[in-house]
Amino acid sequence: MAILKIARMGHPVLLARAAEVEDLAAPALARLLVDMAETLADSGGVGLAAPQVFVSQRIFLFHVPASRSDTGAALPLRAVINPVLTPLSDEKMLGWEGCLSIPGLRAAVPRFTHIRLTGLTPDGAKLDEELTGFAARVVQHEADHLDGILYPMRMEDFRYFGYNEELERNPAPLPEI
Ligand code: NI
Repeated sequence: MAILKIARMGHPVLLARAAEVEDLAAPALARLLVDMAETLADSGGVGLAAPQVFVSQRIFLFHVPASRSDTGAALPLRAVINPVLTPLSDEKMLGWEGCLSIPGLRAAVPRFTHIRLTGLTPDGAKLDEELTGFAARVVQHEADHLDGILYPMRMEDFRYFGYNEELERNPAPLPEI
């Protein structure tokens, strides 16, 4: 077990398209998932993608605490391998996002409100679920990391981009989009 170093914006690993995972049985993969879980828990974040720990493979972890869940129900920590996202409607919403690779900042980012997530669990089971609201947002953010996309690349209005401390002092309501 180890807490891994997190790549920050500016490092090329965050801009690359990550490779599909081919061998779910690789011991290195099991170790990576344990270390990513420990790193995510230490960071206090809700999601972590493998490129953020300098591993350019299509893997992310996420969870949604009850306090941030639209339904009030927590989604426990899970790892998703080779994920595929499909929007289930055209509707998008603005919501605040931060990123462990862009520390200290947050921004309002438009995301689909309703998506389907398919992929594999670490034990090879097929994953297929519908997600809405904050959970859908987290998954879109993490999946973007696997395609070399960071949230500022999704922003449409840079007025809603700032330092966490300032935004906490000066909360701004977000417009509908
Ligand atoms: Ni991120």
